[in-house]
Amino acid sequence: MSHSGDHCQELYDQLEASNRALKASNLELQQFAYVASHDLQAPLRHISGFVELLARRYQGKTDEKADLWIGETLKSVELMRSMIADLLEYSRVDSQAGDPVPVDLNSAFEASLLRLKAPISENQASVTSESLPTLMGDPAQFTQLLHNLIGNALKYRGPAPPEIKVTAEKGEREWTISVSDNGIGIDPAYHRTIFLMFERVYSSSKLPGTGIGLTLCQRIVQRHGGRIWVESEKDEGATFKFTLPIPSGPLPHWPTGKST
Ligand SMILES: Nc1ncnc2c1ncn2[C@@H]1O[C@H](COP(=O)(O)OP(=O)(O)O)[C@@H](O)[C@H]1O
Ligand SMILES: [Mg+2]
Repeated sequence: MSHSGDHCQELYDQLEASNRALKASNLELQQFAYVASHDLQAPLRHISGFVELLARRYQGKTDEKADLWIGETLKSVELMRSMIADLLEYSRVDSQAGDPVPVDLNSAFEASLLRLKAPISENQASVTSESLPTLMGDPAQFTQLLHNLIGNALKYRGPAPPEIKVTAEKGEREWTISVSDNGIGIDPAYHRTIFLMFERVYSSSKLPGTGIGLTLCQRIVQRHGGRIWVESEKDEGATFKFTLPIPSGPLPHWPTGKST
């Protein structure tokens, strides 16, 4: 065999090895989803069931401390329940994604607003968008992405009613989508860590949350070939930006949603 033939074989072997590794890690992720959904949820349900029984029978009948401890246990059980649900969702970003289809981000925006109807009206928030592009991807994931970012903008609001704007800017190779708010803002020291799993700026904050929302956003953006980051100062509002590639060539015309 010639030298170049050897080289080809070597590259081929490398490709096969990395392919195998990728398949193995996908499988691991699916197994993880299974563990999260069944193996962790079942004992947690058991714990919460028995603590609820304790609460029902003994609340107010023993001493104040016991009441407090039971209450704290219930709170932690609830938090763990949402963490497991969020982890499960995170582990499914790759395994449950459909083939990329053209997605009108205006529709994804409308769909996310529909899901945020209650907090939008409770906070008397104004949420607006400029005309957004149509990009290739998973429609449910684009909706989830905007839902998480707008949901955060509502949750981390400042004293004034929230004003949230979604805008898009076309670059040479990619679109940059911005979600800006007039909320509490984020100290630059935290701009990287907030994208990590379970990381929050104020972990003991009264605002509920598990710290997975942005990790999920990052994973969605990355698997669509983009980047996500935040521009903000404390008390000055925050602007989350993400890029998505401009589709190459004309978009195929599918009426809506997923291809079959
Ligand atoms: N729009 C925002 N304004 C201010 N802080 C934010 C905003 N979005 C996210 N954060 C900060 O980033 C942290 C991580 O966000 P996220 O991953 O969505 O988790 P969660 O909302 O469950 O805490 C939040 O706890 C909050 O401290
Ligand atoms: Mg969040």
